[in-house]
Amino acid sequence: MTTNQPIGIFDSGVGGLSVWQTLREYLPNENYIYFADSKHAPYGTKSKEQIIELSEANTKFLIQQQCKMIVVACNTATTNAIASLRFKFDLPFIGIEPAIKPAAAHSKTIGVLATKGTLSSDLFLDHPMKENDDITIVEQVGQGLVEMIEKGEIKTPKMKKQLTHLLQPMLEKKIDALVLGCTHYNFLREVLAELLPSHIELWDARAAIAKRTAFVLDQNGLRNDSSDAGVTRVLTNNSRTAIQDFIGAAVTVELIDKV
Ligand code: DGL
Repeated sequence: MTTNQPIGIFDSGVGGLSVWQTLREYLPNENYIYFADSKHAPYGTKSKEQIIELSEANTKFLIQQQCKMIVVACNTATTNAIASLRFKFDLPFIGIEPAIKPAAAHSKTIGVLATKGTLSSDLFLDHPMKENDDITIVEQVGQGLVEMIEKGEIKTPKMKKQLTHLLQPMLEKKIDALVLGCTHYNFLREVLAELLPSHIELWDARAAIAKRTAFVLDQNGLRNDSSDAGVTRVLTNNSRTAIQDFIGAAVTVELIDKV
């Protein structure tokens, strides 16, 4: 393994780009390969077995691209598949999970908006915060959100209507924090801020993941010591995703033929 090999990142689609943005700010000298498995999005409605199978295929693909480490930039894939990935593949993995713990340091009634796959995973069901009697966790499946985000529908009336509908039960339970438990939802921050009362804070795990990635790179002697800015490649297997709009002109998205 050499330090200038890329860090591989995958998600079911555009969501993990929000994680890549934070990683690149925090670790600008690293090279990255981002794979959006948009052909199989959403992951959140799939079975644990399907999520493991897709996550393993993504990992194999990124290893073929010479990646030195894998960031699973998807809560659904992390909570369902990270144990299998770590067991099966011999390289470091970083996963992302709903940021309940940091939210709990400031709030008592915490809404968690995530996919069905994340909320029904063993990792989430056994979350230590669920045992904490001082904290109330109000879960909500983000029905239909990933599909809209993949199409680039962020501030549309349809999105606002669906979010209003999904937020209502959490607002009735008087949440004072909202954890964005799916990396796609980071792209909804602005529209959520419009729809939510201003005292409700939004939480996600991107900064923690960037710090953890730096730590694990150092721990394994894998941090890129080059002083040049890193290069990112973004690959997708679906021509009908709005991924290029999310990333802008700086990187040209490559359409690949991966099943
Ligand atoms: N970005 C995802 C997550 O963090 C995947 C959502 C999906 O594909 O359903 O959970």
